[in-house]
Parts: sequence; C-alpha cells; structure tokens
Amino acid sequence: MSDTTITGLLAWEALDSRGKPTVGCEVRLDGGAAGRATVPSGASTGRHEARELRDGGNRYGGQGVRTAVAHVTGEIADAVRGLDATDQAGLDQSMRGLDGTPDLGRLGANAVLAVSVAAAIAGATARGVPLHRAVADDGATPLLPLPMVNVISGGAHSGRSIDVQDFLAVPVGAGSFAEAIEWAARVRAGAADELASRGLPVALVADEGGLGPLLPTNRSALDVLVAGIERAGLRPGEDVGIAIDVAATQLVREDGRYVLATERRELTAADLVEELAAWCAAYPIVSLEDALAEDDWAGWRTGTQRLAGRQLLGDDLFVTNPERLQRGIDEGVANAVLVKPNQIGTLDTARSVVRRAHAAGYATVLSARSGETEDDWLADLAVGWRTGQIKVGSTMRSERTAKWNRLLRIEAELGDRIAYAGRSALQVLS
Ligand code: PGA
Ligand code: ZN
Repeated sequence: MSDTTITGLLAWEALDSRGKPTVGCEVRLDGGAAGRATVPSGASTGRHEARELRDGGNRYGGQGVRTAVAHVTGEIADAVRGLDATDQAGLDQSMRGLDGTPDLGRLGANAVLAVSVAAAIAGATARGVPLHRAVADDGATPLLPLPMVNVISGGAHSGRSIDVQDFLAVPVGAGSFAEAIEWAARVRAGAADELASRGLPVALVADEGGLGPLLPTNRSALDVLVAGIERAGLRPGEDVGIAIDVAATQLVREDGRYVLATERRELTAADLVEELAAWCAAYPIVSLEDALAEDDWAGWRTGTQRLAGRQLLGDDLFVTNPERLQRGIDEGVANAVLVKPNQIGTLDTARSVVRRAHAAGYATVLSARSGETEDDWLADLAVGWRTGQIKVGSTMRSERTAKWNRLLRIEAELGDRIAYAGRSALQVLS
C-alpha cells in the first residue's frame, strides 16, 4: 500500500448540461486524497465510438445510468481496489480487460471513463501537483492551446437550423490565451449584433453556448461570422480565422449522398468537396472537421487532396481510436485528429492517440462534447498532453467557461513558465 493506492470508489447518477443523466465518480486513495469526475456525452456521436451504457425503461426517458453506476461501485471497484492511481496505463488496461469488449459496451464507457479520470485527479491531488503536470511526460513543458470557439451552431446542436454543425472563431493572431478568449467573446457579440441587425433572434443559445439562428443557407452563417469578426474590430483571416465542423456523418444517406436540407440540395461526396473548396476560396477557413462522413474513406481521400492547405480534422472518422487513426495515417487521410476521451473510454488510450498523431505529423485538437459537465479536467489534459488546440464550445454557459476559466488561471499562474501555442498549432498554416 502507498498513499496513491485506490481504496474505494463512490459513484452516482449526475446530470449533464443537456439535463441528461451521466456518471459521476469519486476515487479514494489510501493516503486520504480523493478525485472526482463527471463524464460528458455527445449528440452527433460516431458509430465507432466506445459505447455508453443507458438503462432503458421509463426513468429519464430510458437515458438513466444506474446500471453503469452499479458497475463502478461493484465489478470495477472490486477490480481496481489495491491498484495505484498514478499508474494510468495499468488501471485503464485492467478495466479494459475486465470489460472484455472492444467498445467497453459491457461495463459502459461512461462508467470506465469516470473512474479513469477521477483516478488521475486523485493521484495528482495525492502528489500535490496540478493535473496538467501529473498527466505530462517527465520533463515536458506545459503548453497552452489555441482555442477554437463556437459562435454559431447548426445540425444536431441547434434543432438542425442549418446543416453545418459548428461555425467557430480561431483567434490565430492573438498573442496569449487570454487575448484569444477576449477576441472570441468579442466576435460572438459581434455576430449576435449582426444577426440582430438582420432581424433575427439572438437570445436563444444552442447546446454549446453558440448562437442558433435560422438562416437560409450555410454560406449565410459564414457571412454572419465574417461580419462578427469585423464588428469586433478584428481582421478576418489575419486576426481571426474560421473553423467549421460539417459533421457530415449527420448529412449522409444510405446511398452515400449528402443532403443539405436547408438548401434543398443533394450532393455526391465529390460535389460536397467542391462546395467546401468554394467556401474555402471565399472565406478565411483554416480548419474543416468531418468534411465527409465517418465511413466514407474514398470521399475523405479526395477531400484531403482537394482541400490541402487547411487543417482537415477527423472526429467521427477517427473517434479517438488508435486503429482508425492509423488507417488514416496509412491512407493519407486528414491531417489532424479531434481527441475526445469519452469516444474511447480511457485516458490512457486517448493519450496514446495524441502521441501517435504527433509522431505522424498530425495536429491534435482536444475536444469537449455537446453534452458537458462543470468539470474542468479537459483543460489540464490539453496543457499536459500538449495538444496545441482545444475546442469546448462558446464563451458562455458554465460547462464551457469552466474549461476556459481553468486555462485562464493556468496562464495567470504560470506566466513566463508556460508557452502559448497560438497560430503555430495550426500546422498547415506555419
Ligand atoms: P458531439 O459534438 O459532442 O455532439 O459529438 C461535438 C463535435 O461534433 O465535435
Ligand atoms: Zn465534430
């Protein structure tokens, strides 16, 4: 036994930012330290993600997580009691072995991730170091990420008001993390002013805290974002670039065609790539996420060539899965990976995806989910793992600002002892 030996687990059914149940967990250590985590949940989930366990039945419309909670305090607790909380790989592998399925569907990825993260926090607390230091490689310097900030939402996060799911501001010209956040907040306010000037409502916010306007076309959202950057007194492209998350898995039909319902258009993969290329020519787009659907590898290959020069980010495509990322690397598909710990279910495997991406020259963007919690550990992972970029939603709603605020505090605390990734994180631009 040592101070960091796991002695017990507590778990409960908590709520996420959409009011849906999720798993909360506390890991207790022999030395008296404890760590708590509450896990997030997506809406536009990829088919190849690790599987959350939901109860079914009547409680919470079938979305309850009491079974997952019972797995934490039952089988998982029995297996991990006595393990060292600071041995993340050992802990996570033992839970994978216990589950026995590739997608953690038996115990539930929501149960497993809650333990994985709570143990990391407990271990850091016991060692008396901040989480970002505990998760970093020995000797590695911490790195503040370039933020990608949601301004306008569509798709599954906004009642499908427009097809493209995310229109984000990337403050590439800002010299510090704090300045980047201030610029992004100003752009959001500028975009709201622009919508108001067009007679559109701005009071309602989408799942990630962005604006959720009903617009006639996807291009009009890009126009509003550019106008928002200008209204903020900033220069589109030089100061603030644009990122989009097409979330194309949500748009594809069985026959492989993509439907832009807002515009009443049906496109082949090649047409969609041409459409996106036209947007890239007309707007300062620096990053495109899920430009094609999760299993459209041929479309992705075409898109990677045609849209070269931009960050091409795989979310549903890679689902933070090392094997899927490796296929992308081998086939020259995409040049960046979105990293969402709950897509794969353990911190250790998510960490290995970041390492594999960096070794192959792929950029990494650590990401929250559309259903989030008030936890802030994601911020520490970005800093400690040196992901270079982070995406957690807009500059409002507390489950979003919890992460921004943690990064602002780390910047204030470490001062000169921490670098800010800034524009260089967008490797395709540098
Ligand atoms: P999700 O959305 O959490 O609903 O999957 C986030 C994203 O697609 O990046
Ligand atoms: Zn996405």
